[in-house]
Amino acid sequence: MTGNEIRRKFLDYFEQHGHKVVHSSPVYPPNDPTILFTNAGMNQFKDVFLGNEKRDYKRAASSQKCIRAGGKHNDLDEVGKTARHQTFFEMLGNFSFGDYFKEDAINFAWDFLVNELKLDVNRLWFTVFAGDDEVSADEEAIQLWIKAGAKPERILRFGRKDNFWQMAETGPCGPNSEINYYLGDEPENPEKNRADLVNADEGDTTMEIWNLVFMQYNRVETEKGIYKLEPLPAPSVDTGAGLERMTVVMEGVHSTFETTLLKPIVEFTARLAQRN
Ligand code: SER
Repeated sequence: MTGNEIRRKFLDYFEQHGHKVVHSSPVYPPNDPTILFTNAGMNQFKDVFLGNEKRDYKRAASSQKCIRAGGKHNDLDEVGKTARHQTFFEMLGNFSFGDYFKEDAINFAWDFLVNELKLDVNRLWFTVFAGDDEVSADEEAIQLWIKAGAKPERILRFGRKDNFWQMAETGPCGPNSEINYYLGDEPENPEKNRADLVNADEGDTTMEIWNLVFMQYNRVETEKGIYKLEPLPAPSVDTGAGLERMTVVMEGVHSTFETTLLKPIVEFTARLAQRN
């Protein structure tokens, strides 16, 4: 399945499940001083999550063009060093604005990966928020993954760096649950397909492919440099799956630059540079 086919399949799947398919917003966000470039699919819905804007739909899906070169989500230092980071990428996402919450978000993700894309369950790992002094551990997500079909030993707890998502210093945020995929050659071998490869520094053998954010809070600045969490008007969902990474998985290649999405650009540039 090519990158273009995966994008189509994702948007069709969520449209069939009641989501309004919306276009990507511009990579330069027109009215948001908290970010320089659009860093996630949820950016264009920020005011909907906050309750400041109403749309005529409560579920949406998109393939958002993102740039992570600066600000809170800055991948610039990783590009060229890993096989999975780019400054520009497309983020597939499904969103709920006070409609469905954690259980449906988890069930949609499981159904799409396991039943639609037919990914090998043995290669999947799941992470949930371990809790800290501000927000409690997400035990509910663990139970929901098990209910969906995950083995308990494949569900790992991580702290704020990996499992609490916010778009900028202020704005909508919440605990998140990530799905990781083992790309190695021996999924059945527990010495190769291991828990410690999840969120590992190097991270190309087992890589994150989809992040489900359970949006529940708005982080506000009460005084300079002092922040607090306020509840959103309604629990909501923001997910993001890297299209290029999904394509790595589906095309069985080992780098986003080898996918049908990026390889033609690499080859074109190589020809221009007479390096082909
Ligand atoms: N906003 C979350 C992320 O960027 C999920 O889309 O990872």
